[in-house]
Amino acid sequence: MQLQVDDLGVSYDNVSVFDHVNFSVQDDDWLTITGESGSGKSTLLRVIAGLLDADRGIVKLEGKPQWDYDISEYRQEVSYAVQSAQLFGQTVRDNLNLPFDVRNQKPDEQRQLTLLRAMELPEDFIDKNVHELSGGQRQRVGVARNLLFPPKVLLLDEISTGLDEDTKHTIWSLIQSMQTKYHFAVLSVTHDGDEIKHANQLMRLENGKAEVYEYAN
Ligand SMILES: Nc1ncnc2c1ncn2[C@@H]1O[C@H](COP(=O)(O)OP(=O)(O)O)[C@@H](O)[C@H]1O
Ligand SMILES: [Mg+2]
Repeated sequence: MQLQVDDLGVSYDNVSVFDHVNFSVQDDDWLTITGESGSGKSTLLRVIAGLLDADRGIVKLEGKPQWDYDISEYRQEVSYAVQSAQLFGQTVRDNLNLPFDVRNQKPDEQRQLTLLRAMELPEDFIDKNVHELSGGQRQRVGVARNLLFPPKVLLLDEISTGLDEDTKHTIWSLIQSMQTKYHFAVLSVTHDGDEIKHANQLMRLENGKAEVYEYAN
C-alpha cells in the first residue's frame, strides 16, 4: 500500500492555506503532523479523506488518483476520525452497524463486542443510548467504528484532545496494536507527546509549507 500526495495546494476564497505539499506513506508508517493552530493540519487531512477538493495536486492511493475511486469505496480504505466523534442514531449499536451497512454486510456482533472490550467498555454498552455517553466514551465508540474494518490509511485529527490519561492510553494502545496486526498507515495530527513516540515520520506545517522528517522512535 502507498498513499502519495503530490504537489498539493489548497486555498479558501483565494487565500492559500498551503502549497506544494509532497509526501508519501507506506504500510506500517506513522506520520505525525504538527503545526500552529491555523497552519492547515485539518485541511490537509480533509483533502486526504476526500471531504475537500484541493486546488492543485493529487492524492493517490495505491497509484490510483483519488478522483478515480468511487468515493464510498475510497472512504472504506481511508478512514477519518476527528476530535469529537459524531455519533448518530439512538444507540452505540447503530454506530457500530454503520461500517457493516456501507459494505452491505450483516453486522457481526462478536466483532463489535471485541472492539468494545478492547476499548475497555462493557459488552452491554452496545445497547446504550449515545446521548448518555461521556466524552471519553463517545470518542472510544467513534474510534472503534473506524477500526471495525481496518483501513489502509487511518487519519486522526487531534483525537485525544481533552481526554483523560487512561482513555488516551486505551485508544493509542489499541490503534498501535491494530496497526501492528493489520499494517495500515497512520496520519495523525496531535499535540500529545505520548502519541508522537509512535511516529516514524514527522511533518511540520508552517507558513504554507510542509517539511517532512524521518523520526527515530
Ligand atoms: N471552511 C473554511 N472556510 C474558510 N477558511 C477556512 C475554512 N476552514 C479552515 N479555514 C482557514 O484555513 C486555515 C487552516 O485551517 P485548519 O486546516 O483548520 O488549520 P489547523 O487544523 O492547523 O488549525 C485557517 O486560517 C482557517 O481559518
Ligand atoms: Mg485542526
